[in-house]
Amino acid sequence: MELNFRDKIALITGGSSGIGRETAVSFAREGAKVVVAARRVKEGTETVELVRAAGGEASFVQTDVSQSADVIAMVDHCISTYGRLDFAFNNAGVEGTVFTPTVHYDEQVWDQVININLKGVWLCMKYQIPKMLASGGGAIVNMSSVAGLYGSTIGVAYTASKHGVIGATKTAANECATKGIRINAICPAVIQTPMADRGFYENKDITAQDVAGWHRMNRVGTPAEVASAVLWLCSDGAGFVTGHALPIDGGMLM
Ligand SMILES: NC(=O)c1ccc[n+]([C@@H]2O[C@H](COP(=O)([O-])OP(=O)(O)OC[C@H]3O[C@@H](n4cnc5c(N)ncnc54)[C@H](O)[C@@H]3O)[C@@H](O)[C@H]2O)c1
Repeated sequence: MELNFRDKIALITGGSSGIGRETAVSFAREGAKVVVAARRVKEGTETVELVRAAGGEASFVQTDVSQSADVIAMVDHCISTYGRLDFAFNNAGVEGTVFTPTVHYDEQVWDQVININLKGVWLCMKYQIPKMLASGGGAIVNMSSVAGLYGSTIGVAYTASKHGVIGATKTAANECATKGIRINAICPAVIQTPMADRGFYENKDITAQDVAGWHRMNRVGTPAEVASAVLWLCSDGAGFVTGHALPIDGGMLM
């Protein structure tokens, strides 16, 4: 499918690693100019270099999505650098303490996970939507998870945050439905990234085959399989799709 993102500006939070990095490069391959937003300068700059190596154009803006001043500066960076904002992938997230039961969950970890995964997505939409309206419309994809769709034991804050992302996505999509901005969420199962390494494989009595077996396809997903869904949701081909929460889960929840 021809995506035709030439002259489009795509903003990706959490672009220094994993799914965000892969999506940044994928947008660039389709002709979009990319703004990589992340906390870590070295890794974010590496993503910019990967985009340039793929023949694309990108810039980096250091951002903590849980801080409103950073999010305002991030969105302003898009406008001052490229003059507009067409697509946003609000992807930044943390896993918290994985498989810690609700009664043992630490309050500070709860606050961190909710502030980044949920408040961060809301702050991004709060400041992206006015700029997209000024640019004549756009598309936003928010990162949820299969943990946003069922009572996952991965951790109470992570599960609550990802359920919350779907609610925030639907409310904002409803508000923007007639204004030329489509807003959707994606819900991946396990994707092979540094987060999955930290969450599932390091210091735990879980084998790679166990993790693969959680999916009907008996394998985990790749960042490229998530990136292609994000690009499609931003494309004209998804022009009648908004307020949706799309599982990308190898059949886990079927
Ligand atoms: N990997 C999986 O199995 C999986 C499954 C479902 C959903 N997700 C979600 O996908 C997203 C990306 O995760 P990933 O697997 O690529 O992991 P990752 O750890 O490789 O990437 C997460 C990115 O978010 C950034 N980040 C974290 N906190 C931030 C903050 N406050 N401000 C800005 N950036 C911040 C990190 O620096 C990193 O670049 C997360 O929201 C995660 O919850 C991942």
